[in-house]
Amino acid sequence: MSKSSPTFSCASCGAVYRKWAGRCDSCGEWNTISEQAPLSKGPGSKTLSQRGKTIPLTDLAHEEAPPPRIASGMEEFDRVLGGGLVPASAILVGGDPGIGKSTLLLQAAASFAQNGAKVLYISGEEASAQVRLRAQRLGLGEAPVKLGTETALRDILTTLDEEAPDLAIIDSIQTMWLDTVEAAPGSVSQVRAAAHELVTFAKRKAVSVIIVGHVTKEGQIAGPRVVEHMVDTVIYFEGERGHQFRILRSVKNRFGPAAEIGVFEMTGQGLAEVSNPSALFLSSRDAPAPGSVVFAGIEGTRPVLTEIQALVSPAPPGSPRRTVVGLDSGRLSTILAVLEARCGIPFTGLDVYLNVAGGMRIAEPAADLAVAAALLSAREDVSIPPDMVFFGEISLSGALRPVSQTENRLKEAQKLGFSQAVVPSRSRLGDAEGMQIKTMTDLISVVGDMFGA
Ligand code: TYD
Ligand code: MG
Repeated sequence: MSKSSPTFSCASCGAVYRKWAGRCDSCGEWNTISEQAPLSKGPGSKTLSQRGKTIPLTDLAHEEAPPPRIASGMEEFDRVLGGGLVPASAILVGGDPGIGKSTLLLQAAASFAQNGAKVLYISGEEASAQVRLRAQRLGLGEAPVKLGTETALRDILTTLDEEAPDLAIIDSIQTMWLDTVEAAPGSVSQVRAAAHELVTFAKRKAVSVIIVGHVTKEGQIAGPRVVEHMVDTVIYFEGERGHQFRILRSVKNRFGPAAEIGVFEMTGQGLAEVSNPSALFLSSRDAPAPGSVVFAGIEGTRPVLTEIQALVSPAPPGSPRRTVVGLDSGRLSTILAVLEARCGIPFTGLDVYLNVAGGMRIAEPAADLAVAAALLSAREDVSIPPDMVFFGEISLSGALRPVSQTENRLKEAQKLGFSQAVVPSRSRLGDAEGMQIKTMTDLISVVGDMFGA
């Protein structure tokens, strides 16, 4: 291999640089850039006859239909994959250390195996006795999953070649190493090269691979973002510390809807699926209090109701606090600015705390109206009726814009016993029979109607 001039790359996001720098321009992290060894050519390159050959796109239509997806039987997991595992696909499962990735994948492995798939679980982090112990604790001691504890990728690929499983789980990519790369396991070059080999292998031998990656803050260990672009599906397992809930979220999926979520609860016997997340997120609701509002949201293909809580208190002199958990802080600033400029309700001199209960993270602009209602309710000290839901986008002019899937949101709310909704006018309501619906054109009418300001 010719040794060309060295390149440098960021361990956090994988951005490539010609020279070293202290801070990554791409993701803003400090001390994450280090020198990178070149990618190995590996056995993945095509044979001479295939090289550069093209086929007309229309020919693809004559090929046989794609093989059916393999379902694990763990509904929340299958949902996030887009309805099951696509054969020969590469999936990245990222998440903080200790969040429950190994637990989830061991359970998924057992589920797949019990459904008849041939599954190999390869742990580079734990000894086989430890994995077996965990499996027993999860009640999966009898599952027909084959277990390997290996970190040399070359050996792993040989094993996979011999065993020809339907699915191989690699836990974790940061422990794997290739002899052709002169760098420590976990470095950007190793992680990238190992993932590249695994993905190439998956496509060539029709073995699906699930690659586990720890999210890290340290510059020495490459994070999962480095391999995001190589795989078909990227899933993150997230959750707030101190909360039992875990959310599996797809952020990229070549074979299904992105932004789909699966909800789990960490119990003493592993992860339990939560098939009705709305009921769960609302189950811990306190008695109606000012600042608490229920938002009827959509996560992926499914409606999910969550409680948004706001607290407003006098701020000491200086710049007031804006603390947000589970929502984008930029969105909060925008809504505060619209409330001040369009409705004449300032939050100057007031600290604002905003929180999505239950550890959910909401990215939909449809949450705007619920956020504004929570802020107004907290500021004016007016409780919202406990059987009322909100959704709608707020534009900079203060107008309310209809959002997608109005009917589904209302149906879910009704199913959970809500009987009132505040939504933007021009929303397609469908047949929300028995629900009392207020349609509003702009934020100022919401203020006038509900908060008497
Ligand atoms: P783990 O799957 O090892 O996390 P990761 O692979 O993402 O690093 O999960 C570790 C945590 O999960 C640990 O703090 C203990 C907890 N846990 C339970 O609460 N119940 C269980 O049944 C299991 C197996 C783990
Ligand atoms: Mg683990």
